[in-house]
Amino acid sequence: MAATRPTTKRDGFTSTLGVLAATLGSAVGLGNIWKFPALTGANGGAGFLLIYLLATLLVGLPVMIAELTLGRHARANPIRALRMLAPPGQPWWLVGVIGMLAAFLIMAFYSEVVAWVFVYVWKSLEGSALSSDPAVTEAAFAAMVGNPWVSLVSQWLVLLLIGGILVKGVAGGIEAVTKRLMPLLFLLLAGLCVFSLTLDEAAAGLAFLFKPDFSKVDAAVVLTAVGLAFFKMSIGMGTMMTYGSYFRSEQNIPLTAGRVMVADLAVSLLAGIAIFPAVFTFGFEPTAGPSLVFITLPAVFAQLPFGQVLMLVFFILTSIAAIGAMLSLLEVPVLVLTERLGLPRPLAIGVCVLAVAVPGAGCALSGSVLAGVRVAGLTFFDLMDFVSSNLLLPVGGILIALFAGYVWGRAAFTRAVSNGGTLRNEGLAVVVLVLLRYVSPLLIGVVMLNGLGII
Ligand code: PHE
Repeated sequence: MAATRPTTKRDGFTSTLGVLAATLGSAVGLGNIWKFPALTGANGGAGFLLIYLLATLLVGLPVMIAELTLGRHARANPIRALRMLAPPGQPWWLVGVIGMLAAFLIMAFYSEVVAWVFVYVWKSLEGSALSSDPAVTEAAFAAMVGNPWVSLVSQWLVLLLIGGILVKGVAGGIEAVTKRLMPLLFLLLAGLCVFSLTLDEAAAGLAFLFKPDFSKVDAAVVLTAVGLAFFKMSIGMGTMMTYGSYFRSEQNIPLTAGRVMVADLAVSLLAGIAIFPAVFTFGFEPTAGPSLVFITLPAVFAQLPFGQVLMLVFFILTSIAAIGAMLSLLEVPVLVLTERLGLPRPLAIGVCVLAVAVPGAGCALSGSVLAGVRVAGLTFFDLMDFVSSNLLLPVGGILIALFAGYVWGRAAFTRAVSNGGTLRNEGLAVVVLVLLRYVSPLLIGVVMLNGLGII
């Protein structure tokens, strides 16, 4: 019976497992491994973790449910979906446009970090960049970032790989690949954790991650936590709307979103458990920023038995995590181009890859040729990261919450969330609606204005 749905011509996910793998694949990414541990380290450990948890539950989860529901109901790209569901003449579709812009900005710097990760897989195989002296690992990182060709070409390879997977389609590309990669990711990560927990200072590392200290928490830290929650859950920019449009009609959206949230959190925590005990055991500072992954960790690995193998495992699992996220980022503009301009999928992918490569080059070169170019004290790379995570995603999130909460309306929302009443989860839908109406916009708004120093 399901096969006769009117959507059969549109590509989409084919099973509950496929939906979970792809959606989790989008959520899990560099955010868990490159941002989460570093931000937790820099902002006081468990205190930050707690705020991040609250942001995820109160804001992230409702917005994720709203996006998935909107996307599935409209079965269209975010711009068209919002145009279809908004009252005539109201320009809500602009939220989709902002989202597409955010996707490009994120991909510009994200693809470069993925490129570094790929280079480090190679370096792990070679055994280079592995030294117990952090000055040496720092020099290795600086040499890579400072080399314009390595930075550019590795980024292009990443974009080609992602484009190549997307050409195979939603079910044949995204779903098939993430279904294979996600279990592998958990396996590798769990292995690293078991190893890390046997180290001398494991307890100190765990205490850092789980014992709250609120002395470092201020408005900017809360903004960072909210920004991270949005970035982590791939929300505020239409990614989840796009994926929602590929969901099957019978998919239980709140359950799926909840599962993805929990599994994504598990990956972040496992990454923290794998990283911090090792960092403490060898006397490094946890507050190392993004260089934690590329400078501190190789120095840690160098002091461990089988260090080279561990480093290889770590960078392979990071690449795996990043692939699912990149697929979902690139899919957003690809779907817009295929639906709006009627471009064949491979052509749309080619156009989008080229369009990412331009701002991408700005990020790739911000460690070398463009190192001196700064806006508001930030390099091009850091600027893309800041503008997307701390501005575009939260603004997009507020607007999506307002749209689902007020414009689309209670009746339509509950009906869509409950699959036309079959799920009997209307009570839950009302709770989500209340969060979308009153909690998310207010919380995000206040935190944003405060964190930016406006109030
Ligand atoms: N959620 C991904 C991560 O944590 C990043 C991402 C953001 C992906 C926005 C898609 C959209 O790495």
